[in-house]
Amino acid sequence: MVQQKEETIQIYRGWDEFYHQEIGGKLDIFSKNGRLFDVIFAQQFDRSFLDSMCSLASQIRLLAKTKTGADKLSGLLNHKRAMLYFVQPSTRTFISFLNACHILGIKTSEIRGTTTSSEVKGESPEDTIRTFASYVDLIIARHPVEGFAEKTAWVLNRTERPVSVINGGSGPDQHPTQALLDIYTLERSFEHIGGLDGKKIAMVGDLKRGRTVRSLSYLMKNYRDIQLYFVAPEVFRMKDDIKDFLKKHDIPFFETEDFASVKPVVDAIYMTRIQKEYAETPSKETDVYPEFHITRDDLGIIQSHCIIMHPLPRRYEIEIEVDNDPRAVYWRQERNGMWIRAALIAYLFGVDEEIMYEFR
Ligand code: CP
Repeated sequence: MVQQKEETIQIYRGWDEFYHQEIGGKLDIFSKNGRLFDVIFAQQFDRSFLDSMCSLASQIRLLAKTKTGADKLSGLLNHKRAMLYFVQPSTRTFISFLNACHILGIKTSEIRGTTTSSEVKGESPEDTIRTFASYVDLIIARHPVEGFAEKTAWVLNRTERPVSVINGGSGPDQHPTQALLDIYTLERSFEHIGGLDGKKIAMVGDLKRGRTVRSLSYLMKNYRDIQLYFVAPEVFRMKDDIKDFLKKHDIPFFETEDFASVKPVVDAIYMTRIQKEYAETPSKETDVYPEFHITRDDLGIIQSHCIIMHPLPRRYEIEIEVDNDPRAVYWRQERNGMWIRAALIAYLFGVDEEIMYEFR
């Protein structure tokens, strides 16, 4: 018994030291045999991986349209089980992951709040996650605490039952699978004009606490001749860690509060809402910044091919009348999340090549 307890303590020891390392030194832990095993950071994705995920998502989308294709897909992983541990509110990440699992035949369980798990009795989040690993083959986690998914994956990789962990959003830090679906949306939208390479992208709103724009910025290093425009009120400017990353990778970015001057020149406008949930006193913050909104009048100002994106949910950033314009792609963007998440899960379980090359 004493020895068992000591082993458990060893498993949790060393986290702080690991957590504070440079990201480059951490990535190996989350891969096995040259493939990603856990999906924690956007920095884990390179161009070849992103291109293959986009192709796989399109193939799954195509197959799922017919009963024959859908039956083939749902027979692929019906011996696998996944846990969706979403203890921070979510609509689309949760539903799209749930449906992505079901497309591939994976059985799912879910916990959507710490008050409905034994954490209410004092069980630690780490022990909770280890418990999931006793029952399932994949854990998808959304948590309000920065670094939670990373710690989960790190802990499980030190146990006798490591299972893959996907970060479905960790505090204001990262949302790597949102970045995947954003890339898929950008690539599909620009298919007829050479794809994402060479494009100008504006990110607008709460860039300081918006994990989606943070993760997407990291991915820009994989594309040629990208220019970024960070459009935000002074208090919500992009943090230095992202700007340092962009400088290191020679990706030009411009910071401005003058949204009007940016609208006519960019190829994509990525709107975000004010993330009041991370404020010390949310009731004291406004989420209405009219100079940083898109209205129907802007439709005559932006370029004819310029797409309008939003990770959603929206508040006031995009007027509802904009939704009917073909350049407003945010509803397609959220649906793309289901296809690219199915692609990612298929990859993690090693059935990606079967779907790409055998399911014709
Ligand atoms: N984009 C996104 O993460 O949405 P949800 O919070 O609804 O999952």
